[in-house]
Amino acid sequence: MPQQVRGVIARSKGAPVELTDIVIPDPGPGEVVVSIAACGVCHTDLTYRDGGINDEFPFLLGHEAAGTVESVGEGVDSVRPGDFVVLNWRAVCGQCRACKRGRPQYCFDTFNATQKMTLTDGTELTPALGIGAFADKTLVHAGQCTKVDPAVDPAVAGLLGCGVMAGLGAAVNTGGVGRGDSVAVIGCGGVGDAAIAGARLAGAATIIAVDRDARKLDWARQLGATHTVDATETDPIAAIQELTGGFGADVVIDAVGRPETWKQAFYARDLAGTVVLVGVPTPDMRLEMPLLDFFSRGGALKSSWYGDCLPERDFPTLIDLHLQGRLPLEAFVTERIALGDVEKAFHTMHAGGVLRSVVIL
Ligand SMILES: NC(=O)c1ccc[n+]([C@@H]2O[C@H](COP(=O)([O-])OP(=O)(O)OC[C@H]3O[C@@H](n4cnc5c(N)ncnc54)[C@H](O)[C@@H]3O)[C@@H](O)[C@H]2O)c1
Ligand SMILES: [Zn+2]
Ligand SMILES: [Zn+2]
Repeated sequence: MPQQVRGVIARSKGAPVELTDIVIPDPGPGEVVVSIAACGVCHTDLTYRDGGINDEFPFLLGHEAAGTVESVGEGVDSVRPGDFVVLNWRAVCGQCRACKRGRPQYCFDTFNATQKMTLTDGTELTPALGIGAFADKTLVHAGQCTKVDPAVDPAVAGLLGCGVMAGLGAAVNTGGVGRGDSVAVIGCGGVGDAAIAGARLAGAATIIAVDRDARKLDWARQLGATHTVDATETDPIAAIQELTGGFGADVVIDAVGRPETWKQAFYARDLAGTVVLVGVPTPDMRLEMPLLDFFSRGGALKSSWYGDCLPERDFPTLIDLHLQGRLPLEAFVTERIALGDVEKAFHTMHAGGVLRSVVIL
């Protein structure tokens, strides 16, 4: 029987989000209904609301979630009712050209549920990043559910589903940060701070945090930054060079995603170093630079989709490291809010007062 539950939807471009009744179908083949325990508020939810992703309104928002499997459809054997899972937005297909070449982290044909969740009048909803977890329950593909140790706080676990995994993976997976490396991170929101935590976990010797907001730099220090640079007072390129013997950092991560921050990352990097772009630019942004600089400075210029993660490989390990006290993921949960407070959380996010607001169900 389809179930009626509460969900937070964006009905039209820019309008405040609404808490309303939605309908969740029974899981079909390959699908799973998950009872949501917690879901973080990510910048991307706001981008959906503002029409910055596409025009497929109404959206069911929320995508950084953890919860318990309630029921599974035909052919699902990877999870069972009662399993505690973190949801992911890149369930790899195993069939596309990237998967077949042994690079499933780049999968070009990721899976989502086939059936649609709807409003009570039958209007089909578009779930944010194929998840839609600002809701009591949601319908996803089985490959979007990764089992982790249920001992973890769901508010913490859910954050691995997007921003924290993206940042941590940008450092560890995409940037390949290793023992003794120097690393600089430009932009210390949830994503940048996760990159800092990842760099510490990987054994980086010098970790430089750059932001324009002093509160963000305080959090960055708590998560492992060895040095901080206030970009409103100091030129980040000169500061990063000075802190790395005059050379620049081995790996520089742009967790803002603007032409000026990417240029800073490019020039604050040592010869043959690596730049990782994890912040997401908008379509209007352009970059103009001497082509010779790309050649003569060498190294690698990379982008990081979802931290190049493989949920089945990375989520359980990171949760275990957290439970062992080696990865302070709880530091990312700034406030816990109710399902009706998502619109308010967007305003808080804009004001810069949080790393993450997390909806608790
Ligand atoms: N690649 C992915 O898969 C992926 C996944 C999730 C999020 N993201 C993106 O990562 C980016 C960061 O996300 P977030 O949740 O941390 O956002 P956020 O808004 O919480 O953090 C951005 C930080 O950058 C700082 N900042 C802004 N302009 C700056 C500048 N010129 N110099 C220095 N610091 C500056 C802000 O003060 C803030 O602390 C966003 O673009 C988001 O869309 C990417
Ligand atoms: Zn694939
Ligand atoms: Zn997100």
